[in-house]
Amino acid sequence: MTAHRTPAAAARADWLRTELARHNRLYHAEDAPEITDAEYDALFRELQELEARQPELQHPDSPTRAVGAVADAAFAPVRHRLPMLSLANIMPPEDAAAELLPECPEELLRFVQGIGKRAGLADVAALRFLAEPKLDGLAINLCYEDGRLAFAATRGDGQIGEDVTANARAVPDIPQRLKGRGVPALVEVRGEVYMPCAVFAELNAAAEQERQREEEARRAGKKHKRKKGVRVFATPRNAAAGSLRQKDPEVTRARPLAFYAYALGEVQGAAPPATQQQLLARLKQWGLPVCDAVEVVDGADGCLAYYRKFAHARAELPYEIDGVVYKVDDCTLQQTLGRDDRTPHWAVAHKFPPPVAHTTLAGVTFQVGRTGAVTPVAELAPVAVGGVMVRRATLHNPGFLEEKGLALGDTVELRRAGEVIPEILKVVKQAAPKARRAIEIPRQCPECGADAVRDGDLLFCTGELECPAQLRRVVEHFVSRDAMDIDGLGKENIGWLLAAGKIRHVDDLYRLKPETFVRMTLLRESANRAGRHWAAALRHLEEDADLDLDSWLKLLEPAMPQVGATSLDILRAHFDSLEKIAAASEKRLRERGLKPAAARAVRAFFQKHPKEAQWQKLLRAQLRAHEQELQATAQKLVDRIQESRAQDLGRLVFALGIHEIGRVAARTLAQAYPSLERLQKAREEELLELSGFGEVMARNVVKFFAQKSNRRVIRRLLQAGVVGTAPAADAARLAGRASVRTGTCEQWAR
Ligand code: IVH
Repeated sequence: MTAHRTPAAAARADWLRTELARHNRLYHAEDAPEITDAEYDALFRELQELEARQPELQHPDSPTRAVGAVADAAFAPVRHRLPMLSLANIMPPEDAAAELLPECPEELLRFVQGIGKRAGLADVAALRFLAEPKLDGLAINLCYEDGRLAFAATRGDGQIGEDVTANARAVPDIPQRLKGRGVPALVEVRGEVYMPCAVFAELNAAAEQERQREEEARRAGKKHKRKKGVRVFATPRNAAAGSLRQKDPEVTRARPLAFYAYALGEVQGAAPPATQQQLLARLKQWGLPVCDAVEVVDGADGCLAYYRKFAHARAELPYEIDGVVYKVDDCTLQQTLGRDDRTPHWAVAHKFPPPVAHTTLAGVTFQVGRTGAVTPVAELAPVAVGGVMVRRATLHNPGFLEEKGLALGDTVELRRAGEVIPEILKVVKQAAPKARRAIEIPRQCPECGADAVRDGDLLFCTGELECPAQLRRVVEHFVSRDAMDIDGLGKENIGWLLAAGKIRHVDDLYRLKPETFVRMTLLRESANRAGRHWAAALRHLEEDADLDLDSWLKLLEPAMPQVGATSLDILRAHFDSLEKIAAASEKRLRERGLKPAAARAVRAFFQKHPKEAQWQKLLRAQLRAHEQELQATAQKLVDRIQESRAQDLGRLVFALGIHEIGRVAARTLAQAYPSLERLQKAREEELLELSGFGEVMARNVVKFFAQKSNRRVIRRLLQAGVVGTAPAADAARLAGRASVRTGTCEQWAR
C-alpha cells in the first residue's frame, strides 16, 4: 500500500475490517475458510499499519483490537494477544479413592524433576510452588484499558476465543473498573468463571419445578409459556458455560456466576510480578477476587500434601473443583522454563478421581437403541454426586446385571465421570432378602413387542424392520450405497422424513411423492442459515411478514451483476435497511468500501427499481424459479427411489440388514434362492450347506424371516414392486436379458 489520503484510507480500513470479520466467521463459525492464514495475516497487518499511521481510523470493533465484529454470529471471534494456554494433566489411578493415595505418582515426580533439569537446578526438594484449586468452570480473558473493562473473551481454542463482553459485565464478581495504585495502561486478567454449588442447586431446583409445571399444563391440555432461560443443567461447569455464552446478557445476570482471577495475559505499562504469590496479591489489590485456598508448598512432597488435603476438603467447598494446580512460584523461573504449543512447562494440573456416591437401586427400565440392543437403565433413589442430582444410570447390558449380581433394593456405588452418563460400579450392600427382588429381563421388545433374544451378554429386539427405535438405522442402511443405493436420500433427508412421520417402515419410501420433498426442503430452509431467505421471502409475500436486510440482499443479489459476497457484507455493515441503500449515491457507496463496478451496479439497480412493489415482483419470480428447481430435484429423487426397485436380489437381501449377513453372504443367498418368497422358507440345514455359512448366520436368517413383523414389511415391499432382480454375479452372463426388471425372477433359478 502507498500513501493514503484520508477518505480512501478510511474506506480501505472499513473494507479491511469487514473483510477480516468475514474471514474470522468463515474460519471459526463455518469451518469454510476462503483464504490462507498468510493471506489473512497480510490483511490484518495492512489494517494494523493503517490504524497506526492514522489513529482517527481506530475503531473499537477493529479485529486489530482483538475484537472481531461479526454481525450475525452469536459471538464475535477474538484473537488473543497472547495465547490462552491449557495445562498438562496428572490423572488419578483408576478406582483409587483420592484420600488414600498411597504414594507420590510417578508423573508428579517427573514433572518436578523435569523442571530441575530444564532450569539446571541441583535440588528440587525445596523448589517452591504455588498450589491452587483447579476450578471447574471456564477460562476467561478480561482486558482492562486504563483500568476499565474493555472486552472479555472465552478461551476458545487458545488462539481465538469468543467475545462475551456484554455477558461478562453481567457477572457480579467481575469489576468494571480496577482500583488502587499501579494499574497498568493495559492489562489482561485471566481466570475462571464458575457457578457456585449453591447457585447451581437453586437454579436446577427452579428448572425442575418449571419442568413439572410444564408437564402438568401439558397433561391438562393447556399451554405453558416457559420462563426465559430456565433449563436443567448436568454439571456446574455446563451451567457456567451455558450461562456465560448467552445471546441475552439478562439471562447471564439472572444466574449469578462467580469469578476467580489467577493469571495475567498481556501487560503494558507495568513491570511483571516477581512471583505467583505477588501476582495474586496484585490482582487482589486491584479489586479482583482471588481464591483464598492457595498455598505455598515445597517440592513434590508439598504438592502431594496439598492434593490430599483438598481431596478431602473438596466436598465442603462452595465451588466444584476437579483437581489442583501446581505452579512454579518464581516468575523469572517460569520464563526460563517456557512452554510448548498448548501448555506451560512450569505448571501442571493434578486431577481428582470422579466423585462416587451410594444409593438404592429402585427399579430397572429397558431402552431400545438404534441397533436393536435392549439396554437396562437403573432407576435410582435420587442422590447428589459431586454436586449433581443423579436419578438414572446406565447398566450397559443384561450380562452386566448378572456379573455385578444386582437386584432391586440393593445399595449401589455409582460415579459420574466427567460429563458422561453416570454408571454403576458395584453393589455395596445387598437388600434384606425379603425386600430384595430379582431384575426381570424382558422377553419382548419394550418398543415393538417383537421377541427379544439373548446374544451373549447382550439382548436384541428381533423386530428389526418394524421396531420404531430401529427405524432410522434400518432406513439408512436400506438406502446405502452397497444396499439399494438410493443416491441423494442422505441422513438428513431421512431424519426429516422420520420426524414428519412420512416413513414408518422402509416400504413407505416407495410411496413418497415429489411434493413431500419440496415442502420438506422449504421447511428445512427456514431452519438453515444458508437458505433461510427463501422461507423468509415466502412469509414476506404470503403473510406480509417483515423481511430482514440480509434476506433482501441475498434475494436481490442475482439481479445485480458485479455484486458479490464481499459487497453484500459491506452493505450489511453500513446500512440498516434496503431503503437506505436505495437512497445512497454511487459516491457514498464507494466511500463505504464498495468497488466502483459494484457501486455502479447497486446504483443502477435501484434507479431501475426504486419501489418496494418492484422488489417484491422480483422476489416472487425468484421464489417461483426456486420452487421449480426444488420440484425438479424432488422428482429426480423420487425417480431414483422408484428405479431402485430394479436392484438385484443380493442387494435387497443385504438391505434388509439381517444380523451378520454382509454383502457377500447376501449375494450367496440370492444365488441360491431366486426370490424373497423362496428365501423366507429356507431351513437352517439348507443354509448351512452354503459356502461361508456357519451356524450363527444360518440361525439369524431363519430367525429374521420367522419374525412376523419382518414378514409384514417384506410383503409390503413386494407389493410395492421391490422384488430383487437377478443376482449381480450373473449380471454379465445375463446382460442380454438385463431389461427384465420386475416380476419374481423365477427364470434365473440355478
Ligand atoms: S492456570 C498457563 N489455574 O484449567 C496457565 N487454570 O486445564 C493456564 N483452571 O484453561 C491456566 N483452575 O480453565 C489455571 N487455578 C487455576 C485453574 C485453571 C481452573 C482451568 C482453566 C484452564 C484449564 C486447563
